[in-house]
Amino acid sequence: MGQAPVVYGQSSRPPRGDYERAGADFTCAQDFAAYTPQDHDTYHRLYERQSALLPGRACQAFIDVLPQLGAKERIPRFEDINDHLSRATGWEIVAVPGLIPEVAFFTLLANRQFPVTDWIRTPQEFDYIVEPDVFHDLFGHVPLLFNPVIADYMQRYGAGGLKAEHLGACEMLSRLYWYTIEFGLIREAQGLRAYGAGILSSSGELQYSVNSPKPQRLPLELARTMRTRYKIDTYQQTYFVIDSFEQLFALTEPDFSQLYDSLRDQPEFAADSTPLISP
Ligand code: PHE
Ligand code: FE
Repeated sequence: MGQAPVVYGQSSRPPRGDYERAGADFTCAQDFAAYTPQDHDTYHRLYERQSALLPGRACQAFIDVLPQLGAKERIPRFEDINDHLSRATGWEIVAVPGLIPEVAFFTLLANRQFPVTDWIRTPQEFDYIVEPDVFHDLFGHVPLLFNPVIADYMQRYGAGGLKAEHLGACEMLSRLYWYTIEFGLIREAQGLRAYGAGILSSSGELQYSVNSPKPQRLPLELARTMRTRYKIDTYQQTYFVIDSFEQLFALTEPDFSQLYDSLRDQPEFAADSTPLISP
């Protein structure tokens, strides 16, 4: 494939997927035959460890739909999940070899197709992996695609991404994705909970983001979020908190064109910058 995937954060090695398998839209068939018994075992152990940590840390909407992923003992067949998912919200998951370029990603989302990496991490990466693998993509992202509000948010994000591409605003928009869909926290009646996929699929960060006094937690605000850099290879130093998915939806409903223009010349915040100190 001619186009290399875009990653804004720093990374020391290229994506490991085999992009020869992918078509022009970067999707491929889920290579189910390639999974070894060890791969299924890795999935099972990740699932077990992670689901034990969910009570008191994951948002209720996530806990409620997690069983829709099917049996935890083996990596699921994507088509089995799609039977349920398409009926619930009109979304489907499609296999990809790994991270894909922005435009391809936005285009899939705008069509209610969510790209899921089909390979799984090595046992050595059990605790932490920088690149998304099938466990992160399935366990982290797919349950909330069953939620109607998040399902619509994600489609609009894809359409907004195609627009941002023309406006040269992808990096700003990608920060919103990072701090909501990947690392978002939500205030529920019972307390602070995680809804971001990067948190929900990480055992260390699920505990850290919800329970540790160390990170900064700010109410989600578009301008602040879009100006805040992020790190892809450590726990986040700043999390942005929403009150409800409806709030997130309403906040991101307006046309961002003017916001992008007004933010273009403003300084960025470092990932750990506190609100009152200029970067
Ligand atoms: N409202 C945004 C725009 O005009 C699109 C968007 C919707 C972005 C939802 C993110 C999430 O660009
Ligand atoms: Fe992700």
